[in-house]
Amino acid sequence: MSLKRDLRRFNRRAGRFALDAVDLVLGRRQPLVPPRWLSHNSATFEAADEIVELVDRYVGLKPNAAVLDLGCGIGRVAYGLTKVLGPDAQYVGIDIVERAINWMQREYAPRHPNYKFHHLDVHSSAYNPKGRKQTEQVDFGFLGEQKFDVVILVSLFTHLHPDHVRHYLKLIHDVLKPDGRLFASVFINDDFAKAQYQKQKETGVKLTSRNFRFKGDGFYAAKDGNPEFIAAYDPEQIKDMWADSKMELEPFRYGTWCGRSGGHNFYQDVTISRAI
Ligand SMILES: C[S@@+](CC[C@H](N)C(=O)[O-])C[C@H]1O[C@@H](n2cnc3c(N)ncnc32)[C@H](O)[C@@H]1O
Repeated sequence: MSLKRDLRRFNRRAGRFALDAVDLVLGRRQPLVPPRWLSHNSATFEAADEIVELVDRYVGLKPNAAVLDLGCGIGRVAYGLTKVLGPDAQYVGIDIVERAINWMQREYAPRHPNYKFHHLDVHSSAYNPKGRKQTEQVDFGFLGEQKFDVVILVSLFTHLHPDHVRHYLKLIHDVLKPDGRLFASVFINDDFAKAQYQKQKETGVKLTSRNFRFKGDGFYAAKDGNPEFIAAYDPEQIKDMWADSKMELEPFRYGTWCGRSGGHNFYQDVTISRAI
C-alpha cells in the first residue's frame, strides 16, 4: 500500500519536473510564480488577484501598507500583492515549509527587496510532518517591534487545531497596529452548511464542496478526524476564540463552498477583526 503511494507520489513529482522543464525551455517561466515541483498545496495562482481584491474590499490595502501573511505557502498572496503594494510597503510572509520559504527569499530579493520571508520549523501532519516545534511554541520575536496594518491568513485556520488558532490569534493581536485588521479565511460550519451536507447525503445531489462529517473537540474535520488536513468551525466557536483573544469580529462574510449564494465569489468564508 505504501509502496503504491510512494510510486504515485514519484510519478506526480516526475510529471511536474517534466512540465517545469518544458516551461523553462520554452521561456514560459514567470518570475514569482513557483515551478510546479515546489507546490505543496493546490494553490492556483489564477486566484491571486481575486484574493487580493477581496482583502482590499474588506479591509483596504494602501500602497505603503505593512502586511503580514501568515501561512504564506508558495507566495500566492505575495504575488497578488506585488500589483497593489508599492516600494514603501513592507511585506512579511511566514510559513512552515522551508523549501518554499527559501525559494521565495531568492526570487523576491532582487525584484521586491521590501518582501521578507520567514521559516518556522513547526509540525503539521499535512504540511510539515517533520517539524520540530509545536504551533503553541511559536513566538513573533523575530519581528522585533514591527506592527502591521493588515494581517492576512488565507486558508491557514482551515488547517489548524483550535488551540493553535487561539495561539495565533493572540500573537496577531499583539502585532496589529491600533487601526490594523485581520483578514482570516475559515470554513464556518453553521446550520446552513450542515443542512447542505445532510441534503447531499440523502439525495446524492452535489451541494457542498467539503464534507465535515467528523466532530472533534471544538472543530469539524473530514473523515480522518485530523483538523490539520481540513478544519471547519461552528460560528459560536469562532466568536468564542476571537473574543478570548481580544479580537473584535465584524459580521461574517460568506463564500461559496457550501452552495451559499449572495456572498463573495471566493469559496472560503472570511472573518474580519481588529484588536481591542
Ligand atoms: C492551504 S495552504 C495556503 C497557502 C497560502 N496562504 C495560499 O493561500 O496560497 C496552508 C498553508 O499554511 C501553512 N501552515 C500549516 N500549518 C501551519 C502552522 N502551524 N503555522 C504556519 N503555517 C502553517 C502550510 O505550510 C501551507 O503553506
